[in-house]
Amino acid sequence: MCGIVGYVGSQSALDVVVEGLARLEYRGYDSAGTAVSSDGKLSVTKRAGKLVNLRDALAGTVPPGGDSGYGGGAPSHSGIGHTRWATHGPPNDRNAHPHTDCTGAVAVVHNGIIENFAALRGELERRGHEMSSDTDTEAVAHLLEEEVAKGAGLAEAMRRVCVRLEGAFTLVAVYSGEPDLVVGARRNSPLVVGVGDGENFLASDVAAFIAHTRDAIELGQDQIVELRPAGVSVTGFDGTPAEVKHYHVDWDVSAAEKGGHDYFMLKEIAEQPTAVADTLLGRIGADGRLSLDEMRLTDDELRDIDKIIIVACGTAYHAGMIAKYAIEHWTQLPCEIELASEFRYRDPILTRSTLVIAISQSGETMDTLMAVRHAREQRASVLGICNVNGSTIPRECDGVLYTHAGPEIAVASTKAFLTQLIAVYLIALYLAQVRGTKWGDEVFAMIQLLGTMPQKVAQVLETVEPVRELARSLAGERCVLFLGRHVGFPVALEGALKLKELAYMHAEGFAAGELKHGPIALIEQGLPVVVIVPSRARPILHDKIVSNIQEIRARGARTIVIAEDGDEAVAPYADTLIRVPAVPTLLQPLVATVPLQVFACELATAKGHDVDQPRNLAKSVTVE
Ligand code: AGP
Ligand code: GLU
Repeated sequence: MCGIVGYVGSQSALDVVVEGLARLEYRGYDSAGTAVSSDGKLSVTKRAGKLVNLRDALAGTVPPGGDSGYGGGAPSHSGIGHTRWATHGPPNDRNAHPHTDCTGAVAVVHNGIIENFAALRGELERRGHEMSSDTDTEAVAHLLEEEVAKGAGLAEAMRRVCVRLEGAFTLVAVYSGEPDLVVGARRNSPLVVGVGDGENFLASDVAAFIAHTRDAIELGQDQIVELRPAGVSVTGFDGTPAEVKHYHVDWDVSAAEKGGHDYFMLKEIAEQPTAVADTLLGRIGADGRLSLDEMRLTDDELRDIDKIIIVACGTAYHAGMIAKYAIEHWTQLPCEIELASEFRYRDPILTRSTLVIAISQSGETMDTLMAVRHAREQRASVLGICNVNGSTIPRECDGVLYTHAGPEIAVASTKAFLTQLIAVYLIALYLAQVRGTKWGDEVFAMIQLLGTMPQKVAQVLETVEPVRELARSLAGERCVLFLGRHVGFPVALEGALKLKELAYMHAEGFAAGELKHGPIALIEQGLPVVVIVPSRARPILHDKIVSNIQEIRARGARTIVIAEDGDEAVAPYADTLIRVPAVPTLLQPLVATVPLQVFACELATAKGHDVDQPRNLAKSVTVE
């Protein structure tokens, strides 16, 4: 959600900033803009729509052959850029960021929401400031103007303004009076620093500057960063110098490129066997036991737990639902799963013996972050399952298990989901190993089986061509239903979510047992219904769903059945049969989800949609 870039150094700031914005496009946005400093003044350009509109607008002012001389003047060596995901005011040119003050000397970009903006705007207008946008952000530019007019430098002005702001924000600003300086401020929304040689970068995530440097600095809560060509300094909002923590980004620019695929989503689907292997790497010992030492929670702490609550959103929530089945089965610990956005608005019963597990690919989802804080306030231990190293959620948790899936650029989550599943299986099995369980042999066997999952996922990918054909044949449909039982239910929800977000189709996932309690009324002649059939190893589940398939077929549904190799019982009732390798029921989501990802991706592509950047969606949702 929203991309921010800042740069100071000897390269053309405009070129670096626009290139950075292009690398952040995946986050989702509706307008874009830049402000660069040259010849003692700021030049601001902004446009609604895709980055190409901004590039076209810049081309009108930049001499052919690239910036390097913005507007024909001296090259710009400091600048900021923004891709906006509108919260306050429609996505038009006027509301696009950067926003400037009355004099045009200060320009600011913002991610998040300034909750007290109406009061601040009113105050500023009474003091004679003229607002030229509908955004909450613009007030900040005018507040900075007032502080600068009182003689403060930009960094001090930012410190004074930030303490007056309520809500979540990352702010990045430039001031024509200090052309070699970019100032950033962070509360709740993401912001990282890239450290170069004689140049420095600021961005919402490292993808923006990974082509220039892999040396990064995490910014903490309520911190201000001053970026100059010669160095970076960080303070709290009160001006106290802060300790600066460097880290090395463990992937390079090729990981953030499409590598020959038409879409990032296709690349990320194809990367799943490797991603799953990377999540497992180093975690299964030669003795067949798990070691998750890096998790930062001691075995004693894990033995003291008497309840687990999982919080997450979207696809990560579906991984959490599957975790509940695994944890309750292997550990006999009660486990609840809750949408992070709901969790903090009720009164969950948490004690020191409760373990809260927060699952988030980005580590920046505001709903999940707020749930983490809510849990910690009540002294529960919080364990994060995250993909992005150094992001906010893992930093605020007591412990973390990284999924190591590599950067996930496409908005629709694929490899992150499969690796989250591996992470939750690892945690469930580790808890069973540490605490003891009545399923000792099964736990040991499962740990071994996890090691074979990369091959099983690869096997699914080798045989998905018929799924693509099926998807293309359904491009004219308006609705698709998904049914599953047990862990097949979250898989059904995930299949439906993928189709909604990519193909903009009505798609619903149901627990197969719930069908007769209402949804069966939706079944009509020819309606495509995807059914995830559990392993035959659990006949009680398997046979029930075979009956469900017959019920919907009798009412005219077109049945698309996902079943394990060798399951002949379902064949007579499947209009289309999609085979996946036979694996134990609890692990089946790892193989059964993959055809559904491919299905949604292909169907959306057949409808002509951009699967990497679906409409209205953002990759990381940093507002509540
Ligand atoms: C998945 O395809 C989605 N785009 C979305 O539901 C996502 O999983 C959700 O927003 C949570 O994101 P997170 O894992 O980064 O917290
Ligand atoms: N709230 C601001 C706006 O609507 C910033 C939105 C964003 O994060 O892009 O302009």
